[in-house]
Amino acid sequence: DYQMPLAGRTVTITAGGTREPLDPVRFLGNRSSGKQGVALAVAARNAGATVRFVAAHMEVPPPAGVEVVRVETALQLREAALEAANGSDVVIMSAAVADFRPAEISDTKIKKRDDTADPVITLVRNPDILQELVEQRNGGAGGAPQLIVGFAAETGDSQGGVLAYAEAKLQRKGCDLLVVNHVGTDKVFGQDSNSVVILSRSGAEPQEASGTKTEVSDAIISRISFELNHVSP
Ligand code: C5P
Repeated sequence: DYQMPLAGRTVTITAGGTREPLDPVRFLGNRSSGKQGVALAVAARNAGATVRFVAAHMEVPPPAGVEVVRVETALQLREAALEAANGSDVVIMSAAVADFRPAEISDTKIKKRDDTADPVITLVRNPDILQELVEQRNGGAGGAPQLIVGFAAETGDSQGGVLAYAEAKLQRKGCDLLVVNHVGTDKVFGQDSNSVVILSRSGAEPQEASGTKTEVSDAIISRISFELNHVSP
């Protein structure tokens, strides 16, 4: 169907930024607003998909008409994403997942005291959820292999350098599509517009998309629909 290219498909989308607690009142977080993930969920829903939306911390509400699971930490997001991915035709990892979390979470608020040394925070690695999704890759009801889409927020001084680095990341992670953002604190995060390049593991030419996050999402969802409906494994 031209209007509903994702009719009958289930799409899992993760969005927002994880928060990794240090104590009952503090956390390590990031600048993700969740806007791109919400726009993707709307685009997928409008294309006819059943959307499973795994939301970490967001500055905007989740969209109507999608099934929402709320999470806070990377470990919680991992559990929710692996479960939602089961039976999904597509998984889009647009969440900004913390690569590290504090090794210990204090039960009580960490106090400032004059008689002790300045505190040191030890971090441990979080699992790479995208990589795990690729390892456990399964499919939707249709029996076709699952399409897995990663995001890469790269800071770099040149677009060419960013793309070469992202291409290596696509191959390393083994996802089917990688949506590459060139970010800085003044760009992308919290903004209503975005500019991305979609890289494909099947070797298709990099595709640029820019505009509002809604327009970028429509381009990403069209590309996903195309891959699902026209590209054989
Ligand atoms: O390696 P990098 O963090 O740049 O990869 C970004 C992609 O990997 C995003 O799709 C993000 O959602 C995902 N990711 C993940 N688990 C992590 C870190 C990132 O799935 N621990």
